[in-house]
Amino acid sequence: MTTPSYSLINNETGEKVDLPVVKGTLGPLGADVGKVYDKMDLFTYDPGFTSTCSTKSAITYIDGDKGILLYRGYPVDQLAKHSTFIEVAYLILHGELPSKVQLDSFEASIRRHTMINESLRRFFDGFNYDAHPMAMLTGIVGSLSAFYHDTTNNKDPKHREIFAHRMIAKIPTIAAAAYKKSFGQPFMYPKNNLDYCSNLLRMMFAVPAEEYEINPVAAKALDVLFILHADHEQNASTSTVRLAGSTGCNPYAAISSGIAALWGPAHGGANEAVLKMLEEIGDVKKVPDFMARAKDKNSGVRLMGFGHRVYKNFDPRATIIREQCHKVLKELKIDDPQLELAMKLEEIALSDDYFKERKLYPNVDFYSGIIYKALGIPVNMFTPMFAIARTVGWVAHWSEMTAEPGGVKIGRPRQVYTGSPVRDYAPIATR
Ligand code: CMC
Repeated sequence: MTTPSYSLINNETGEKVDLPVVKGTLGPLGADVGKVYDKMDLFTYDPGFTSTCSTKSAITYIDGDKGILLYRGYPVDQLAKHSTFIEVAYLILHGELPSKVQLDSFEASIRRHTMINESLRRFFDGFNYDAHPMAMLTGIVGSLSAFYHDTTNNKDPKHREIFAHRMIAKIPTIAAAAYKKSFGQPFMYPKNNLDYCSNLLRMMFAVPAEEYEINPVAAKALDVLFILHADHEQNASTSTVRLAGSTGCNPYAAISSGIAALWGPAHGGANEAVLKMLEEIGDVKKVPDFMARAKDKNSGVRLMGFGHRVYKNFDPRATIIREQCHKVLKELKIDDPQLELAMKLEEIALSDDYFKERKLYPNVDFYSGIIYKALGIPVNMFTPMFAIARTVGWVAHWSEMTAEPGGVKIGRPRQVYTGSPVRDYAPIATR
């Protein structure tokens, strides 16, 4: 099949600029508009980047209409069923599934890097007890840049690898420390004989005074959730990491900027917002009233956990997580009225014309909060959980960008200026 060609035409003058086509392995072609300004004195305008590719990437593929999500070509449902978070992390970072030897060595390295510098641990003392864990996570991860400047030659593949392993290994320790800080319990050091998720659960829920038994159902559920959240191509937080990283800044600082972007309720903060919404509704009887408000633009209310910028059919992660949700509640013998409430909301929304016309379906965060709650994880830790998993994606995208042979081009969007035209300074006495 021949590749179609594209041009931009000035309908008044007939001036025409051919747009080179950028071809990937899957998905739509890209029209390269990079020279349009030079040749036509014209900017392309796309607020929210709904049709604009900021980069080429070989990590993750999404087909929003068909509900497809692939990590390095592998469907996420297959990975959720057969793989582990650590194996998926290796896959996302390296592009291929590991051999047994490669996996063992990768996992050993992640386990070895779980501790954080004692001085960094003391940074937590500076926070108030009621600081949001995402605020602490943003600050502490940014502070890692003050500790590891020995290995931040971004051009050196070994330095990039050390950064990747440190970041993935330390983020659970930092998140768990933020959790402990929030209610004054002693910080629990990592135990490196435990797998990634069991270690996280122990750091969050164990206390030095007692033995702690890890629930394998909880560890497995967390592992699946982390696989589903590990990457999602050029989402807001990953794009933030790439944009910050494109300046050549310290990589830990770039990840910190991604954490800040993730925090918003339109992105990773949605899982927390879903639970708050369920709490606010409180009772199945109040669902119709809430749905009416969610459809009313003037109310400022949205059905949290519904809708997605890319998925306009269904979110494949939501299908897996919905199943997991029922499984976990059953295995942990939890009868949660909020799940019933969530099912009712889902049932109504899926048959309601407002949601059907706008192609609004439950997204991954509609169910993840209910699982987290069942695992005993408090609401303000939901987004940090997302951040732990997404760290893999951030690190992989940063590494992919930084390893580009020609070097990174700084991200620098343009604007359509709507301010005052040029005018002369007026002395204060004349204003
Ligand atoms: N409840 C009610 N109406 C909605 C919702 C919702 N959750 N989402 C979108 N709409 C309406 C919106 O008002 C608009 O209506 P109209 O065309 O009449 O003006 C239409 O649907 C399109 O919405 P949009 O805001 O232009 O769509 P978007 O692609 O810019 O936004 C979104 C996507 C995820 C930000 C949005 O759907 C939303 O705010 N959802 C709730 C928050 C949420 O669950 N976020 C998690 C996303 S998944 C995890 C992640 O990627 O971090």
